[in-house]
Amino acid sequence: MHLISQSRCKQLVTLSLFSLLFINLSAIAEDGGALYNTTYDVNLGERYFERQCSRCHGFDAKGNDETGAPDLTGRLSRASTDVAIFNIIRTGVPNTAMLPVAEAVPDATVWQLVAYINSLRYDPDLVELDGNPEAGARLFAAKGDCGSCHMVNGQGGRLGPDLSRIGETTTPEDLGIAIMGPDEKVAPRWWTLRITGRDGETREGFRMNEDSFSVRIMDNDSNLWSFRKSQIQSIERIEQSTMPSYEQSLSESEIDDLVAYMFSLRKEI
Ligand code: HEC
Ligand code: HEC
Repeated sequence: MHLISQSRCKQLVTLSLFSLLFINLSAIAEDGGALYNTTYDVNLGERYFERQCSRCHGFDAKGNDETGAPDLTGRLSRASTDVAIFNIIRTGVPNTAMLPVAEAVPDATVWQLVAYINSLRYDPDLVELDGNPEAGARLFAAKGDCGSCHMVNGQGGRLGPDLSRIGETTTPEDLGIAIMGPDEKVAPRWWTLRITGRDGETREGFRMNEDSFSVRIMDNDSNLWSFRKSQIQSIERIEQSTMPSYEQSLSESEIDDLVAYMFSLRKEI
């Protein structure tokens, strides 16, 4: 009896140690931020921030010279990822006034703080840009001809992603990169397939869908082409963007205007 209970006890101890370790590891290694980034989470994070953090960082999170707490609305000096921000809040910054949150504060709350801090960085009212969004909107429609490929609020083409809410998810910096160097980052959805049929004819377009027997693409004129796999001679996948680079054709200030316009595109509240 005694032996059994002892080993059981040991087992329990290892189990709970293991689960503790596991929970800790998963909190640090996994980016739980994706689970807590709704508007609801941002609001809860903000409320918590006002109670626990604003006395040093300020109500607007713009920092405070007296307490030495930095501005949290721009690029953070100690953290460039959600996980890193999480860890700063969880463990503090050693030998500074930035103490860890109480251990009893659940991870979910810490992630909500992360979501709130992220929302500040993307808050257009707090970000100062050189460009003029109205001028950018005109360029988008006219000279830039961006609307022939991109939809904004139901208007425009389908040869590129819908940009109606692009400002919510993309920093001004990345918007500039998207315009000047579209090949830098191309999601697979926008790769091009170049398909040559057994009849020798070649067609190019975005891959729309595919099953075991056939593949469909949409060409630049929005025509859909369906190929039976048995009729295909070759398929080439092109991972470059079909969007032209505007680095040469637009001036720096025009690009600034476009960035300001796109950054202003978000869900109407
Ligand atoms: C007692 C004052 C104080 C309180 C309260 C406080 N902080 Fe800080 N915080 C600081 C100071 C000071 C630093 C700068 C530490 C350093 O890097 O020297 C800092 C740094 C940070 C950073 C890193 C900033 C960067 O640029 O990398 C984050 C993120 C942060 N705090 C979030 C929070 C959150 C969230 C709370 C509330 C849970 C909070 N802080 C509460 C004083 C405070
Ligand atoms: C010929 C069609 C075409 C034109 C014209 C075009 N784009 Fe694009 N654009 C695309 C495609 C396709 C993608 C997706 C692939 C990529 O990331 O480059 C894209 C991606 C983007 C992205 C990144 C979107 C995201 O979800 O990350 C932005 C921002 C953008 N375009 C802005 C513009 C602006 C501003 C203009 C006008 C100056 C423009 N585009 C003109 C086709 C086009």
